[in-house]
Amino acid sequence: MDKINVSLSGFGTIGKYHTLAYKCLPLCHEDIGCSINLYKLLTSKSLDKHITGFQIHTNNIEDLYDTDMLDICSPNFVHKEQIKKAVGMGIKNIYCEKPLSGISDEEKYLVQLADDNKITNQVALMMRFYPAVSRTKRLIEDGVIGNVINFNCHMYHQSYLDPKRPISWRLRKDKSSGGALVDLGIHMIDLVRYILGDIVETRAITSTVIKKRPCKEGYMDVDVDDFAHLDLVLKPGITGTLEVSRMAAGHGDDIIFQVFGTEGSITVDGKDFEWPVVYLLKDNTWLKGDFKKYFDVEDDIALLMPPSKFSLGWMMNAHMASIYSFILKLQGRKLKYITPACFEDSYQSSLILKAAYESAENGGKAVKII
Ligand SMILES: NC(=O)c1ccc[n+]([C@@H]2O[C@H](COP(=O)([O-])OP(=O)(O)OC[C@H]3O[C@@H](n4cnc5c(N)ncnc54)[C@H](O)[C@@H]3O)[C@@H](O)[C@H]2O)c1
Repeated sequence: MDKINVSLSGFGTIGKYHTLAYKCLPLCHEDIGCSINLYKLLTSKSLDKHITGFQIHTNNIEDLYDTDMLDICSPNFVHKEQIKKAVGMGIKNIYCEKPLSGISDEEKYLVQLADDNKITNQVALMMRFYPAVSRTKRLIEDGVIGNVINFNCHMYHQSYLDPKRPISWRLRKDKSSGGALVDLGIHMIDLVRYILGDIVETRAITSTVIKKRPCKEGYMDVDVDDFAHLDLVLKPGITGTLEVSRMAAGHGDDIIFQVFGTEGSITVDGKDFEWPVVYLLKDNTWLKGDFKKYFDVEDDIALLMPPSKFSLGWMMNAHMASIYSFILKLQGRKLKYITPACFEDSYQSSLILKAAYESAENGGKAVKII
């Protein structure tokens, strides 16, 4: 494809991130190999085209019929219908924000739908693109920390601590499919699966700290979790913990992913997504940086990440890298090491979410992932 007509649904926070990524891609990556046309924006808002950059604004999804690639940035409860309609209209390339829907039965249906219709698909589980994540995965695969014993990971936000923050789709189960666990937890679950392998069992507890939030009519119940703690068991008998919170005072965006092995440990700290910190037992040394280079990993990072002088911040860089990997896929170009997350990956993570909520509802009993 020489030119890709990109249409996008939902111009909220993440819709703007993705739009910025499309605008910056040709500037950051001159070898992109195609031109990107911001074609149609599906929105019910009255927006200035000079700001969005899209050629056409519409509030009717049927108008997107002739798009090459649909990018879905609408709220979770809208994803399934928009994917179904897009496939029905013959759109062949769909990039969707996480989660695919958050409900495992629906996600299974969407995976099948994409398979049946040969849809090139990807989910924006973009943490896979942080250089520290790729390097960590590769170092673990190479046995640098020996056999993995256990891990712990967390993502802490403080975004909902203010009780005056109004109700939104994220705080209603019928619209979000879950709280912090779905919103933040899916990123961590995906990293566990991607770096360490399949999860086979979980025990979970969740809590809702602020149970009512202001709305136009007064107050509305919050029926999703603000906090979740999961104990996880992985296939080869590795265990770990995962914690997510939207109520972590003093922690605006605090991410840790830490793995302990028989010969060392490795930590990804969100303060620096460039390099993991490695401890090697035999030398009693702490290492950070390119002490061990894997060219497949480094080639992908060099290809996908913007040159350092063009860095747009970690989150934006990772979103842009994830979108770029999809554009490369559409051109038939392959990555050497990084595997972007597809609909199937979101479905696999949704099975963990389902099991965790079942466990939490039953006092934290162990639930097998089937
Ligand atoms: N991967 C990430 O890092 C990341 C980060 C934030 C959000 N997200 C995901 O992105 C999606 C959107 O989240 P957000 O934070 O941008 O939410 P948001 O509330 O800021 O924006 C959602 C936008 O969608 C619009 N909208 C609602 N219904 C629509 C419809 N039927 N068609 C088109 N647009 C519609 C709303 O008006 C709003 O502008 C969610 O699925 C969320 O989980 C992912």
